[in-house]
Parts: sequence; C-alpha cells; structure tokens
Amino acid sequence: MEHNDILERAAEFAKSVHDGEGSGHDWPHIERVVRMARRLCADEGADPFVCELAALLHDVADEKMNPSKEAGLTKVEQWLNGQSIEPSVRSHVMDIIATISFGAGPTAPMRTIEGRVVRDADRLDAIGAIAIARTFVYAGWRGHPIYDPELPPRSEMTREQYRNGQTTAINHFYEKLLRLKGLLHTDTARAIAEDRHRFMENYLERFHKEWNGEV
Ligand code: ADP
Ligand code: NI
Repeated sequence: MEHNDILERAAEFAKSVHDGEGSGHDWPHIERVVRMARRLCADEGADPFVCELAALLHDVADEKMNPSKEAGLTKVEQWLNGQSIEPSVRSHVMDIIATISFGAGPTAPMRTIEGRVVRDADRLDAIGAIAIARTFVYAGWRGHPIYDPELPPRSEMTREQYRNGQTTAINHFYEKLLRLKGLLHTDTARAIAEDRHRFMENYLERFHKEWNGEV
C-alpha cells in the first residue's frame, strides 16, 4: 500500500481516538505535532514516513485515554498489524510510541533519529503560548487550582506522584514545562524552544506580579 494511504488511515484512526479529548491531547495537538515533526524531520534528514506515522499515533496509547499504557500499546499494535506495513517500520513505530512519554521517564533514551524528532515535536507543543493554554485546560480537566502559594512545586516525583499528586497549573510549569528545553535532542528543536521558553518565563513573571498586585 502507498505510504500516503497508510498515513491517511492512521490519521483517521488517531482522530477517532482523540476527538473530543479534554486533557490537552485532542486531535489538534496531534496535528501540531505532525506539522512540527515534518519540519524537524526535514532538517535532521530523518525518514519522513516513520516520523509522520509515529507522530500521528504517538498519543493513541496514552494512559489518560486507556485503561493502562499496556492496553493502549496493544491497541496501536493491533491497528498496525492490520495494515500492510513493513515489519521493521511497525516495530520502529511501536518502539517510539512506547518510549515517547514524559511519564515514561524524562530522560529515557530514544534509540533513533526518527524517535528523537517525534519526541522533540511533542515536547515543543508543551513549550510556549499553546503550552500555556494546554496546561490550564488540563488543570481544569483535573479540577486543579490555577495557583496556590501554599503548595510549592515539587522537584523530585515518582511517576505516580507526577500523575496523581496534588499540584496546580502554575506548579506544572516548574515541575515539567521549564525543564523541557534542556531535554530536547535536536538542534532545530532547541533553537525553536529558546524563544518559546522565554515567552513562558515572561508569562510567569507577569503572573506573579499580578498575583501580588504589583502591576
Ligand atoms: P506526555 O504526553 O509527554 O507524557 P503529559 O501527558 O504529562 O505529557 O502532558 C502533556 C501536557 O498536558 C503537558 O505539556 C501540559 O500542558 C499538560 N499537563 C500534564 N500534566 C499536567 C498537570 N499536572 N497540570 C497541568 N497541565 C498538565
Ligand atoms: Ni503528545
């Protein structure tokens, strides 16, 4: 089957999984990650088919939308097995999806350039103006407050604490978003992140000033 047909079907599959998702992992997140993955892929000389397929499917197995991460991975695997895709591409894409998440460990190594491209594209969507919006949407979805000066950001957390511990939208910037810039793999993504990171820092500075009635 033509690569383009497979990508179209992957988009349909991912769209059906993500449509209406309320935690910031909605279909437009996937579209942004695909666009950024294309850009990084071209700059890094990675395989465009693997990058785009993995970008489309990267959050289908997310634990927030599945009974468990394992159940999510099985769902992706079954879908891939139903397509006429070379087995090596299938296992490559599975490998990327299984290791991509921040929840899987922020420094979990990514074996291939295609994996690094897709992970950077995903991480860039968590840095900058859109990331700010996603963070408040997520906090609202979880019922977390915007900010609580009595609740300092955590510096070390287990996966369970990261997912289910007490936190606020503003704390999430310190617990994750401001750390992402230093975890990117590719030079292109690092360059894009600079400006976006500064935008978040300025936003936080302004937030705290307004909170204290200073501006
Ligand atoms: P990944 O899919 O890389 O594991 P997450 O699902 O943890 O990442 O986070 C994706 C996005 O959801 C984050 O970039 C952030 O915008 C939002 N998010 C995740 N956890 C929180 C949280 N505790 N508070 C606010 N926003 C969050
Ligand atoms: Ni994602």
